[in-house]
Amino acid sequence: MHVLNTAAGFSKEADYRELHGHLAAVFAGERNGLANAANMSALLFQALPDLNWAGFYFLRDGELVLGPFQGKVACVRIAVGRGVCGSAAQRRETIVVPDVHAFPGHIACDTASRSEIVVPLIQQGRLLGVLDLDSPLVGRFDDDDAKGLKASVELLVDSSDLGRYVD
Ligand code: SME
Repeated sequence: MHVLNTAAGFSKEADYRELHGHLAAVFAGERNGLANAANMSALLFQALPDLNWAGFYFLRDGELVLGPFQGKVACVRIAVGRGVCGSAAQRRETIVVPDVHAFPGHIACDTASRSEIVVPLIQQGRLLGVLDLDSPLVGRFDDDDAKGLKASVELLVDSSDLGRYVD
């Protein structure tokens, strides 16, 4: 798996289409949600440039609990409504934070993180958790990332038995 071409002149939309194909190949014939989420965190971390963390939090007993990820050791539990992850879970909306220092309540797991995107995982109206990506660059994520990653998490949710890891 190579790093996708997100430099100027290349289309992020095309990159995310290519990523979608890789994810579909990785998930093919496998519905184990933990395995698929683990492989997805690895694929995103390898394929998308300028990330220092990529991973999942799953909803357990009303709070977000750390799932499979790539990057530095992270905080394990995040209350719904707290930080970027908890806010995206509460609103059930993708949140793009261009500068984490300007986001009140941002939870700093890795001090290298300067921007962040969090995408909720929703299955038939039920919140399962969130996907969280961090970057050491300010303003790393935009609407194209939000669209591409939304399609990626929808593929994960449709392809996997993630409901088993949520209560
Ligand atoms: N920054 C996140 C916490 C999770 S770590 O970045 C992995 C937040 O504010 O919710």
